[in-house]
Amino acid sequence: MKYPKEYLDEIKTRLKVSNVVSKYVQLKKRGKEFVGLSPFKNEKTPSFTVNDDKGFFHCFSTSEHGNIFDFLMKTQNLKFGEAVKTLALQAGMRPYTFSKADEEREKAWKEYTGIYLDYVTFFHNELINNPGSKKSLDYLKNRKLKFDIIKKFKLGYVNYNSNIYEKLEKKFGKKSVQECGIFYFDEKKNIYVDRFRDRIIFPINSISGQPIAIGGRIMKNNSFFAKYINSPETQFFKKGSNLYNIEKARGLSNKLDQIFLVEGYMDVIGLNNNGIENCVANLGTALTERQITILNQFFNEIVICFDGDESGYKAAIRAAEKSVIELQPEKQISFLFLPEGEDPDTFIVKNGKDNFIKYYETNKILIHEFLFENLKKQTNNSPTSLAILEKKLRYISNSIKDQYIKKYILDFFLGKISSLTPNLSRGKQFTIKHVASLTATKKIYNDSISITKEQLQEFSILYLIINNFDFFKKNFVILNDINFVTDEGTKVFSKLLKLLETKDEIDLDKLPLDNDTLEKINKFASIKHISKNIERDENKISEIFYEMKKDLKNLILDRQISQLESKFSEDMDQTTLNQIIELKKLQNNN
Ligand code: UTP
Ligand code: MN
Repeated sequence: MKYPKEYLDEIKTRLKVSNVVSKYVQLKKRGKEFVGLSPFKNEKTPSFTVNDDKGFFHCFSTSEHGNIFDFLMKTQNLKFGEAVKTLALQAGMRPYTFSKADEEREKAWKEYTGIYLDYVTFFHNELINNPGSKKSLDYLKNRKLKFDIIKKFKLGYVNYNSNIYEKLEKKFGKKSVQECGIFYFDEKKNIYVDRFRDRIIFPINSISGQPIAIGGRIMKNNSFFAKYINSPETQFFKKGSNLYNIEKARGLSNKLDQIFLVEGYMDVIGLNNNGIENCVANLGTALTERQITILNQFFNEIVICFDGDESGYKAAIRAAEKSVIELQPEKQISFLFLPEGEDPDTFIVKNGKDNFIKYYETNKILIHEFLFENLKKQTNNSPTSLAILEKKLRYISNSIKDQYIKKYILDFFLGKISSLTPNLSRGKQFTIKHVASLTATKKIYNDSISITKEQLQEFSILYLIINNFDFFKKNFVILNDINFVTDEGTKVFSKLLKLLETKDEIDLDKLPLDNDTLEKINKFASIKHISKNIERDENKISEIFYEMKKDLKNLILDRQISQLESKFSEDMDQTTLNQIIELKKLQNNN
């Protein structure tokens, strides 16, 4: 059985060799290529190369080479069919099953794209060759579009009396033409009508370059007709899975790191017209995760640049909430807000390419900064509103799929919150300046993997004590019946107890604790983000202290209970069961 060539080509178009390979081999960029250690041989100097432009890998020490399918077959021991399945899935495509339905779909796809190709080609020629299209050509020229750009995007003009329906029907058959979305049925007149009549049309292509939908702009702005109308969704056109201009932009990803994501057809065209080709539009709908995934596949930085108006800003917030989920290491998503009233097209027409780039360089804001700034605007500095802010930010970071990024973003948010609460009274606060640099966070992240819940809880309690020495000196007794479980926690706690027993003033700079421990407490004590708000409020301090003490006790009981439960599931021993019951009682009383 043979896969259709188009199906295999589509997989190759949607995936970059370097992305497929880097799941198995660590690659480093070197000029236009990537290099790494050969997966076919043990070696110390890299002789394995990947070339995205050409779409293949080559190993100089073993002479192995090939495309993405070959790579999976050779390194993962897969049969061809298995490699195709794996990669199709990775490319977000449906598996090919060699069923009758697949065959029919393949045929329908050829007809569908055939219809669109004939349609856009015909009306493109009409626009540039037919004197009857002069007003449309003038319209585009008035908008300063170069002739090359009109051709590059294969813009067209559908005259009012378009009668292409019959021609297409003859060639492709009734059913395909009626279902392709270009025509709608007029029930009064009982005929199929071209929905793009008297509009300038913008062909929308699939990622592999076939036309699959159309957007059509009216030339006179009036409120009666929609400015744009688009092909409806069909079997082969799903708005949320496509991006305008992706088929051309993806080819640039071997040269350029950024992709500009804009709102409109004319933004893409206006940017191209001024020399910025790495841009796509999301077709005027809400950005989807699928679209982000596609862009992430090719580009290191997605720059979301919507219109400088309220709806653009709102769309940007939604886009940020959607795309933050897909953040990945080594990838960036940023936002660029244009001056009020401008869109990328009008901005670049007024200011030119260099100023656009300059504007981008000075004004872009990273996605997590934007999310924070936006929520901060809705916050005053009261403890409740800060608590709500923290909750929202935690929710956002929690939605992120990548574990490492999740930690990094949370860390960034919490750091920002604690800097919001001004450092009142005391002067000396026990905090180490927050550094949200990537390396620092990476270290924290690595550390945090091995940290237990009990440790975290203990760090918080210790943090509270250290920051409220006066209070705990005065209320020494409340420290009586607390049990630390970890070695480190126990040790620090007993040192603090000794200190609190003395009559002397305590100097925060001279704590008898090593820096490592202090740093850990400071990093991991989740309490620190609220503790500034409770300063001096003795009731709050003791309330929180009792809460934390209780939580710690529960954690310990939890662990003991679950250990006993797994023991019980093996030995079914009555004494084990009794112990469990006892512990559960204790927990209930706690
Ligand atoms: P805009 O109104 O910003 O259009 O809508 P634009 O691309 O900048 O076009 P010009 O410069 O006014 O000519 C952004 C996108 O939203 C979708 C289209 O995809 C458009 O490109 N849209 C807009 C519609 O689908 N229908 C509409 O009526 C308006
Ligand atoms: Mn616009």
